[in-house]
This record gives sequence, C-alpha cells and structure tokens, in this order.
Amino acid sequence: MAARFDIEKLSAKHDRSHFDCGSEPLNRYFTQQVTQDVRRRVAACFVAITSAGAVAGYYTLASASVPLVDLPPGTARTLPRYPSVPTVRMGRLAVDRQFKGQGLGAALLADALTRALSSDIAAFALIVDAKDGAAAAFYRHHGFIAFGDKPRALFLPLATAKPLLRA
Ligand SMILES: CC(C)(COP(=O)(O)OP(=O)(O)OC[C@H]1O[C@@H](n2cnc3c(N)ncnc32)[C@H](O)[C@@H]1OP(=O)(O)O)[C@@H](O)C(=O)NCCC(=O)NCCS
Repeated sequence: MAARFDIEKLSAKHDRSHFDCGSEPLNRYFTQQVTQDVRRRVAACFVAITSAGAVAGYYTLASASVPLVDLPPGTARTLPRYPSVPTVRMGRLAVDRQFKGQGLGAALLADALTRALSSDIAAFALIVDAKDGAAAAFYRHHGFIAFGDKPRALFLPLATAKPLLRA
C-alpha cells in the first residue's frame, strides 16, 4: 500500500460523517454507533486517514472465544482440550468507495493482525463473520479458513499470519 494512509485509533478529531463504503449497515455503524461501542469497551476501532485528514477505511477489534468443537478437526487436534480457545474478532472492516482496490483493505487487515499478534493477551486466531460471499472471498484470498459448514464464518490462526506480515 502507498504510505499515504496513517492507521490510528478512532478519536473525536476524526470526521466520520462522509464515510461511504457502499454498504449501508457498515456506514450506519461507523457514523452512528461505533463511538458508543468504544465507550462501553465492547469494540476498539481503528481508522485509516489520508494526508488531508479524511477517513478512508476502518475496522473494529474485540476479544472473543470459539468453542473447540467449532474448529475443523485438523486444527482442533493441534490445540489443548479446553472447551474454547481465545480469539480476536474483527467485527467490521470497510474501505470508502473512493479508496477501494488500492490495497487499503489488505493494509487494514495486516494492521489488525499486527495488533492481535503484538498483544500481551494471548489469542489463537483472528476471526471474522463475512457479510456476503464477496467479503468471504476477500478473507479467503488472505488465507482465512471457514469454520466447518459456515462459509462466511472464517478464522486465520495468528501463527500462520506471522510469516504473511513479514512478506
Ligand atoms: C472488502 C474490502 C474491505 C476490500 O478492500 P479493498 O481496499 O478494496 O481491497 P484491497 O485493494 O486491499 O485488496 C487486497 C487484495 O484482496 C483482493 N480482493 C479484494 N476484494 C476481493 C474479493 N471480494 N474477493 C477476493 N479477493 C479480493 C485484491 O484483488 C487484492 O489482491 P492482491 O493483493 O493479490 O492484489 C472493501 O471492498 C469493502 O470495504 N467492501 C465493503 C465492506 C465489506 O464487504 N467488508 C468486509 C467485511 S464484512
């Protein structure tokens, strides 16, 4: 990605009102709800900012856990037999229409993986619920694996992500 975006924690200085990723629920969440979720500590939000200060994209992260039985057997076998494993959920990811196809979605995903990997609190994987088939294809393109029979619920083991981030 061109170095023309800074990725930082959402704060009051960011103008969210013009954001348009083409998905009404994702626009509405960002313009109307995200600050309440941040205040209540149920989500953290990070934004990509242009040199002119406009918000070009955002994503959210929160702690989550996944029942061991939901993981594909090949993955579950590599883990201790706890009832569930800790994960980080990327609840939302969106790029403004003006900035799509320029590597920003991938850069936001890499930033989320870096934050999850550098936390002192352990997490086995980054998990997502893709909103449609195209979003699921975006995640699969980046190495995400579907949970069993739910093609839009996907995970990426963080141990797998490490080499990707160095590339
Ligand atoms: C999905 C989304 C975040 C992608 O952002 P983007 O900035 O346009 O994507 P990028 O330019 O970073 O693409 C990076 C790579 O992913 C690939 N890619 C992008 N969209 C893809 C898709 N739908 N299916 C498969 N691959 C895709 C690109 O071809 C590119 O591949 P390359 O690195 O091998 O060249 C963006 O289209 C978006 O905001 N969509 C609406 C909201 C949405 O669907 N969010 C998903 C969360 S539910």
